[in-house]
Amino acid sequence: MPGFGDIRQFMIGQAFGSTYIPQNADFTGKTIAITGATAGIGLECAKHLARLNVHTLILGCRNLERGKTAKNIIINQPKSKILTSIEVWEVDLANFSSVISFAKRIQQFPRLDAFISNAGIEPMIFQLAEDIEMTLTVNVVSTMLLNIMVLPKLRETSTKYASPTTLTTVGSSVHIFGLTENLLDNLHNKSKDTFDILSDQNTADLGGPDAAMSPRYALSKTILHALLGRLATKASRKDQEVIVNWVNPGWCESEISRHKNAPSLSTKISIALLRRTAEQGSRELINAILIGKESNGCYLSECSIKPESAFLRSKDGQQFADQLWRELMSRFEKLSPEPNSILAQQ
Ligand SMILES: NC(=O)c1ccc[n+]([C@@H]2O[C@H](COP(=O)([O-])OP(=O)(O)OC[C@H]3O[C@@H](n4cnc5c(N)ncnc54)[C@H](OP(=O)(O)O)[C@@H]3O)[C@@H](O)[C@H]2O)c1
Repeated sequence: MPGFGDIRQFMIGQAFGSTYIPQNADFTGKTIAITGATAGIGLECAKHLARLNVHTLILGCRNLERGKTAKNIIINQPKSKILTSIEVWEVDLANFSSVISFAKRIQQFPRLDAFISNAGIEPMIFQLAEDIEMTLTVNVVSTMLLNIMVLPKLRETSTKYASPTTLTTVGSSVHIFGLTENLLDNLHNKSKDTFDILSDQNTADLGGPDAAMSPRYALSKTILHALLGRLATKASRKDQEVIVNWVNPGWCESEISRHKNAPSLSTKISIALLRRTAEQGSRELINAILIGKESNGCYLSECSIKPESAFLRSKDGQQFADQLWRELMSRFEKLSPEPNSILAQQ
């Protein structure tokens, strides 16, 4: 149920917006980690980071072989001399222990100037991972777990080098389509946890048998944006400044639609007219880690700060975000004491 302003921003941004790498962008001496860099937008972003002299690049990949292939692609970019040290580390966002192990490895690393939570999925079948519907496990719950667990290293690096560090998460402009009237009705049944409601096929509102799973990806991004807004208010400490922002790369050519049916004629026409390349989309991620303090707590699209959906800005949307945050934190509490204690640290 997007409003007129939401649709206008969505259409104009995709059709006429442009993306760019800021002039003089340079990451000399920096360490940056990114998830989902084996394909699509993440791989293109990693290629830019290496070309822009990042000292150490950590690729968080669920498949190490694909990670090593990505490393070779990054190193062997034509017409570039790449001096970056590239590490390929395993992380599967469908598995909480894998996420925690990866985050602990980051905590042991000497520095972390930026973390880019990019990995995401758009599955077409309903399946559970960690007792939660898989799109939500990967795009939301594990992404937030990882984001919280890398905060200590981002804070420490900020203090050590007297410079803010950045936590950028890849969201989407389709967050405006995430919540339907049906779903909101189901969620008003507050006796049950939102993630449980959305992980039960009877209450998940997957759009009916013919549209199975189609609304879920957008919903995962609505929930992600809502939670990131809450995280942004809790990430920094005195002298430990961590900028939390989230970014829409735009509708891009990538492997994300690998589970969808072949596109219809009208989709093919839209693709030809509107879709960006993954490289064009990846510039938004580079911009997000460079844009600076004014972007803390903000949604970015077309390389500038943009308003969230009317729903997320509304009173109902704010209550929804508060409720999700409480539910997420109580879920994490059962998993490990660390996320809550990281957020409680003064
Ligand atoms: N493409 C678009 O139009 C678009 C628009 C808005 C937002 N986005 C967002 O952009 C981000 C990147 O997507 P993309 O379009 O570049 O898609 P993509 O080409 O499918 O790449 C997704 C990346 O995520 C990784 N990944 C998937 N599941 C994972 C898991 N369980 N654990 C760890 N890594 C996992 C994939 O690894 P494997 O190689 O192992 O599969 C791959 O590296 C996503 O967050 C997506 O939602 C995309």
